[in-house]
Amino acid sequence: MSQGTALDRVRELLNPALLDLAGQESTANGYLDLLGEEPAASPVQWLMRSGFLPGIYERIWRPTVLGAMKGPFGPGTSQELALVGRMLELGPGDQVLDVACGPGNVTRALAGNVGPAGLAVGLDASATMLARAVRDTRTRGLDNVGYVRGDAVDLPFLPGSFDAIACLAALYLFEHPFEALAGMARTLRPGGRIAVMTTRRVPYGGPLNALVGVASGVRLFGDEEVVEALTGLGFSGVRHRAYGLVQFVNGRLV
Ligand SMILES: C[S@@+](CC[C@H](N)C(=O)[O-])C[C@H]1O[C@@H](n2cnc3c(N)ncnc32)[C@H](O)[C@@H]1O
Repeated sequence: MSQGTALDRVRELLNPALLDLAGQESTANGYLDLLGEEPAASPVQWLMRSGFLPGIYERIWRPTVLGAMKGPFGPGTSQELALVGRMLELGPGDQVLDVACGPGNVTRALAGNVGPAGLAVGLDASATMLARAVRDTRTRGLDNVGYVRGDAVDLPFLPGSFDAIACLAALYLFEHPFEALAGMARTLRPGGRIAVMTTRRVPYGGPLNALVGVASGVRLFGDEEVVEALTGLGFSGVRHRAYGLVQFVNGRLV
């Protein structure tokens, strides 16, 4: 295991071929910043980038909004994190990537599963989310966590860098979600695990699907869509769990 800070360890995983700024990425804000100016955003993306949402995201926004979407029988936050931990089969020393990590709430939970020799990397495009992630991670004294400001659809890591990847509550925000999944598959080592949690189009829920889709502006995925995408990318044992308007899909790269 290499020595150095978490950011030093994250830097070793970056793919120099994909980076204009290889070796010169800014770390002034406590994360590796690989993006320049933020491009124009949809209303939901704008909210994610605002200074307001990161402050209330973990304690208020996520439990309320996702809780309502999961419905009364869906897992609460701690059950969900335990479920994702089991899906990813993390152990001491593993390297895990949290794609679209927001304020690092999931990243920090995953860090607890990989121990001090392991590494949890959170990637997000939002500077305000990452500022909060860095702050809350420092407060908790975690030194096996590092953050990258980058694009989930164009992951900047060397192929096979990670033992496991989580992408929770974010796939529906990406402009090209299936390209993003393909990038995650490339970034996993053979035998690596993936866990995706995203929106769901309720079967026979025509008006409800339309209402949620139009009101939020986010994409709702059919029950087969992510399963088929992961199977097509070479994942085995792909399993689907549905709770209301939310679905979890996991698998292992062959
Ligand atoms: C709802 S938060 C999810 C945070 C965390 N994964 C969770 O489960 O609570 C969605 C995050 O996706 C990020 N995001 C959206 N599109 C992105 C992209 N193309 N690249 C990187 N991050 C993106 C947003 O900035 C936001 O922080």
